[in-house]
Amino acid sequence: MKVFTLATELSDIHRENPNRKIAFIPTMGALHAGHLSLVKSAQQDGYLTVVSIFVNPLQFNNPEDLEKYPRTLDNDLALLSNQGVDVVFTPTTSEMYPANVEDVQIELGDLDQKFEGACRPGHFHGVVQVVYRLFNYVQPHVVYFGEKDLQQCLVIEQLVLQQFPSIEMKRVITMREDSGLAMSSRNVRLSSNARENAASIFQCLNAVIEQRLTHCEALIQQQERLKDMGFEVEYLTVVSLPFMNDVPCDFFQKTQSEKSPQMAVVFAGSIEGVRLIDNLVFS
Ligand code: PAF
Repeated sequence: MKVFTLATELSDIHRENPNRKIAFIPTMGALHAGHLSLVKSAQQDGYLTVVSIFVNPLQFNNPEDLEKYPRTLDNDLALLSNQGVDVVFTPTTSEMYPANVEDVQIELGDLDQKFEGACRPGHFHGVVQVVYRLFNYVQPHVVYFGEKDLQQCLVIEQLVLQQFPSIEMKRVITMREDSGLAMSSRNVRLSSNARENAASIFQCLNAVIEQRLTHCEALIQQQERLKDMGFEVEYLTVVSLPFMNDVPCDFFQKTQSEKSPQMAVVFAGSIEGVRLIDNLVFS
């Protein structure tokens, strides 16, 4: 496994592997099974796999969160090496953000302002800046992102559409524990009781999809269920993709016979002070 810190070193990958397609997985390190599932997907698809590890200061609106973000480079490199990754890119902040480079601007409507964007102002702007620079440095053919961060996937899909039309973007389905709880590095902070209750998020998301004909009533029922279990619910709602617009209460009754567009039921909430997000995409 090669480890590069300079963007100029990355051009070697293309020069030395002219006949291989390059898959790219950007990360901020502190790797877990979810990240490794993205790596496995790229490898199963037969691509030369490049992973970046860079804690992007621009996407943190709270300096304390940036400081506290876990940095576990040695462990991350060991995991990626065991996994047979070809190249890891670990740039410095000045490599990623040299002076006098202008921000890229893309059209997102209000996609970056709502849900996760509303509680972390500027977050998606920071994500777009770093991913734009990383894609330019790595020049991948295919990129992999986890569907757990659905809104991030949708923002990156717009970036790809508007700035990198030749890149193929793959969304990888969320890894779940046996209970259905979406895997997250935050799960370790849950007590065993909260962890058991958090497993019901997946059941609630499924219940809303099953009762989609009356989804507004289902949303109220499931929100109550989560509150009874100790959750402070930030949002639990059904949105249409790709812009996460609200879905009217009679939508599924009116469109039963037509092919429905992609939708998602999205959730964010806290239990014992631990904030969790999850979603299920359906059509
Ligand atoms: O999902 C993440 O870890 C980050 O937002 C990303 C895509 C690596 C950009 O810093």
